[in-house]
Order: sequence, then structure tokens, then C-alpha cells
Amino acid sequence: MKASSRSSVPPFAVMEILAAANARRAAGESVLNLCAGEPATGASDVVRQRAVELLQSGDLGYTEAMGAPPLRAAIAEHYGRWYGVDVDPARVAVTTGSSGGFMLAFLAAFDVGARVALARPGYPAYKNILAALGCEVVELDCGPGTRYQPTVDQLRALDRPVDGLVIASPANPTGTMIGPEDLAALATWCGEHGVRLVSDEIYHGITYGGPAPSTAARYLDRGAVVVNSFSKYWAMTGWRLGWMLLPDDLVRAVDALAGNVALCPPALAQHAGVAALSPEGYAAAQANVERYAACRDLLLERLPELGWSRVAPADGAFYLYADVSASGLDSVTWCARLLAEAGVALTPGTDFDGVDGDAYVRLSFASSLEVVREAVDRIVAWQRTLA
Ligand SMILES: Cc1ncc(COP(=O)(O)O)c(C=O)c1O
Repeated sequence: MKASSRSSVPPFAVMEILAAANARRAAGESVLNLCAGEPATGASDVVRQRAVELLQSGDLGYTEAMGAPPLRAAIAEHYGRWYGVDVDPARVAVTTGSSGGFMLAFLAAFDVGARVALARPGYPAYKNILAALGCEVVELDCGPGTRYQPTVDQLRALDRPVDGLVIASPANPTGTMIGPEDLAALATWCGEHGVRLVSDEIYHGITYGGPAPSTAARYLDRGAVVVNSFSKYWAMTGWRLGWMLLPDDLVRAVDALAGNVALCPPALAQHAGVAALSPEGYAAAQANVERYAACRDLLLERLPELGWSRVAPADGAFYLYADVSASGLDSVTWCARLLAEAGVALTPGTDFDGVDGDAYVRLSFASSLEVVREAVDRIVAWQRTLA
């Protein structure tokens, strides 16, 4: 017997870096981990306290498959508060992280053989989940020329039609954002061509000075799906809590699939998650964003010393994606050597881009200013040894 061919998705190169970083740490060596795509802080106090209360007295049985009604209502209100968009709680599906949301969205929206376009570089799980579900992934080459984001022109230029488009703004690994006009253009084009738009908004809230991101929630009536999560802005990665906003035609399908696949998302996380959407919850998240902003400022200030080229404009999220090919090393070797010789862990671009990724690395600055400063010092010193 053997595993199904659909399950042969590639492992992340960063897992090897992480294993090497952990081994170094276990051996007592100092390692600065800037490869993990997660906030160094955990959930806010208000969420933790609520979780403690729930553990002591709460009913933590199954919830509705689409999520506990108070959380669905709180998420719907979030759209009024942040974007001035009226969302019916009936369209909110609470999910097991945004990862669980993608699985349900893709299952509900796409048949086997459906062609789904997405940006390269991009978060690898989209294409791996789609491939495992039997969809055909159509990669759009999104380099500096399109600010690493897909455009309507690229969709128009495709030789065959697609059934779906996955976008992320701010994006991982580049941090670049799609402006409101460009989002409107993409959503309109998708609506007019029967293309399902799936918008990953997991890094909303983590933006630096530019205009507030526009949400695809404005385009639910054109068939768009919004996917979001408590993992990044609210720093709740391990709680496994996310959500989707669904167009009318997908509500019943997602409800039925969600019940069958997992019965419900984690109940403790759901009930405690309501507290993340309280004034204290937003305030704690915002304090984290201010810390990321300070780290980003430091990195941008020291870019000339780092000497990296083609640095993606880090409009949001907490990543710097940059070309290190001037070193003469491919990014996997560059990252492995940086870790072995300077004790700094970064992610090779090959995890996000199977074509040009060997030129790029991703640095996650969701850490403390001290760690980021020390990491830059070490990288600058190590790069001198390569010269
Ligand atoms: C762009 C993007 N989308 C989705 C996810 C999945 O996050 P989660 O399942 O924790 O919501 C990640 C995680 O790094 C991500 O970077």
C-alpha cells in the first residue's frame, strides 16, 4: 500500500531550518529565530482570563458547526467597526484557523479539475491544499513590476479561463497590499467572469501608515469569499481560530461540510475569542502592531548596510522579503549558512516561490526590537565574511 498521490504535497524548507535552529538551541547556542510567521507574544490578557473562567465554569461542548452565535455576531460587528460594512452574522463561518477556512472554502467553491489562479510568490498552503483537492493551480508571476500582487491584466492575459482567484493583502511573504481601486477592479473582473475570488485578510490590522486595507467583504454579493483569522493581529496562532465571510451560494455547503469535517472549531477558543474583539483585545493587538512598526523602521533604516536588493515594499504583515542573490549563494544555502555561522534563522524564498525563490529570503520581524537589532548586527557581520 502507499499514500495517495494527491497527498504528496511538498514539505516546507523552513522546517529544516527550524529543526536545525532547535538543535542549536538545545546545544546551548544562541539562536535568533526570525523565520517563524507568528507573533512572539501570545494572546492578550483579556482573552487568557476569559479562557481561565471558561475552563472553570464554562460549557465547552460542541458548538454549532458554523460557530458559536455570540462569536459570529461579534465578528459581523467587527466589519462595521473597521470597514463600515454591514455583514449579516448568518454569513460568518467560524473555522479552525484560516487554514481550516481555506479547506472548507476550496471544497465548497471548486470542483476537481477547477483552475485556480494565485500569486507567485505566495503562501504555499493555498496551492498545496488546492492541489490535494484535485484543482489545477495557475501561478501568476508577481514580481516587483506588479508589487508582488496579481493584476486584472494578468488575468485577462491567461490563455484559458480560471474558476477562482486567491489573493492575500497584506501578503505573505512580501507584506505588499492591494489598494482599494485594484481590489475593486479584481473583484469586479472576477464577478463579471464567474471567477470565485477568495481573499485572505489574515494580516489586516497589521499595516504601516498606508491606507487601511479594503476588504473583499464589500464584494460578497459578487461571490467573493473572505478568509481571516485570530492568529496574527490578535496573536492567537495556537488557538486555531479563524473565520470566513461567505456569499449566499456557499453558506449551506460550508455549513454541511464544516459539520462533517470537524463538527465545530475548538469551543474554548471560540468563547474566549469573543474577548479578542473587546476594546481591551483590540488595544493589546494594536500595541503589538506598534512593536512590529518599530522593528520595521529599524530594518528599513539598516537596509543600506544589509545591501539587499529587490526588497518588497512591506506595507503590512511582519515580513521583509528581499533578494540576497548578490551573495552568490542560493537562498537555501544562504539561510543554512547564516544559521550555522551566525545563529540567525530566516526562511528561504523557495518555500514561497518555486521559480525565483532561490534568490529571496523572508525575515519575520514579529519579534522584539532587541532581537531584530541583534539579528541585523549578526547578518551584516556574517555577510562581510562572504565578501
Ligand atoms: C497568508 C497566510 N494565510 C493563512 C495562514 C494560516 O494561518 P492560521 O491557520 O493560523 O489562521 C498563514 C500562516 O502563516 C498565512 O501567512
